[in-house]
Amino acid sequence: MTEPVVYLNGDMLPLSEARIPVLDRGFIFGDGIYEVIPLYDARPFRAQQHLARLQRSLASIGIPDPFSATEWLALITRVVTANALGDQMVYIQVTRGVAKRAHAFPKEVTPTVLIMTNPLVLPAAALREKGVACVTMEDRRWLNCQIKSVSLLGNVLAAQHAAVNGVTETIQFRDGFLTEASSSNVWVVKGGRVSAPPKDNLILEGIRYGLMEELCAAMDISLEARRITRDEVFGADELIISSATKEILPVVTLDGSTIGTGQPGPVFAKLYAGYQAAKLASSDELTTS
Ligand code: PDD
Repeated sequence: MTEPVVYLNGDMLPLSEARIPVLDRGFIFGDGIYEVIPLYDARPFRAQQHLARLQRSLASIGIPDPFSATEWLALITRVVTANALGDQMVYIQVTRGVAKRAHAFPKEVTPTVLIMTNPLVLPAAALREKGVACVTMEDRRWLNCQIKSVSLLGNVLAAQHAAVNGVTETIQFRDGFLTEASSSNVWVVKGGRVSAPPKDNLILEGIRYGLMEELCAAMDISLEARRITRDEVFGADELIISSATKEILPVVTLDGSTIGTGQPGPVFAKLYAGYQAAKLASSDELTTS
C-alpha cells in the first residue's frame, strides 16, 4: 500500500516524513482546533458548513484563520487528489504554532496547519439494522464544548469508557441533563417527536445537527432543542447518535437497559433514508483549479 500524503505548513509530504517541532503549542498545551469532513466518492459533504465551523473555532480561541474558505477547499483538493481513496474523512488541524513554552499567547507566531485524509469506514450495516449499545457517564469536560478543540482528554476518557465496556459510545450527562456522546451528538425520540440538547457551550454543534434540523423540517417531524433529563433519555422510544464518521446510528441499549422496543425505530429509518438522499443530492464539489 502506498503511503498517505499529507499537507503540512505549505508542503505535501509522505505521512512518515511530516514532522512538527516539540514546542508546537498543539503538542505542549493542546492549543489548537480541528475539523473532520466526510467525502463520498471524493465529493465533500457539507464542506461549507465544516469550514464555517473551522473559522468559528479559530476565532473563538484567537488564532487568525490562515486561509479563506476557497483556499481551504483548494488545499483539501490537493490532499484528496494526492491520495487515491474513495469515501474518506479529511482531517484538518490548526494549532497556534511553535513558541517557547509560556501559557499566554506568544506575540508573533505562525499557525501550524495539517491536512490529512483517511478512508471513511462507515459503521457496518448490521449496526444500523440491529442498533448499538451505549453506556453513560457524567460529563466532566470543560465548559467550552462548542469549540472543536484538540484538547480532547475528556472525550478520550469517555470514549475509553465505551471501549472497556465493549459498546459504541458513551452518552454523557451534566448535572442530570443530556449533553452529548464522546464524539457524537444525541437525539431523543418520544411519541414521534425529536428532541436534542440546545446548541450552547455544553455541546459541539455537529454539522449533522443542522442536517437533522433540515431533515426533520422536510419530513414534518417535530424537532425541539431543550434540556433533556436522564429519565427522558432512558424512557425514549428511540435514541439516535450522529457524527461525520457514524452518520446516524440507532441506540437500542443504554447501560444495559433496553431503549424503546430494543429495535431501531421508524423515526431513525426515515432520518437515515433522508441522510442517504442528502448525500446523493449534495452539490458540493472539490475545486477544479
Ligand atoms: N467528532 N460532538 C463531539 C464531541 C464530536 O467530537 C463530534 C464529531 C460531534 C458530531 O459532529 P459532526 O456531526 O460535525 O461530525 C459531536 C468527529 C467526527 C471526530 O472527532 O472525529
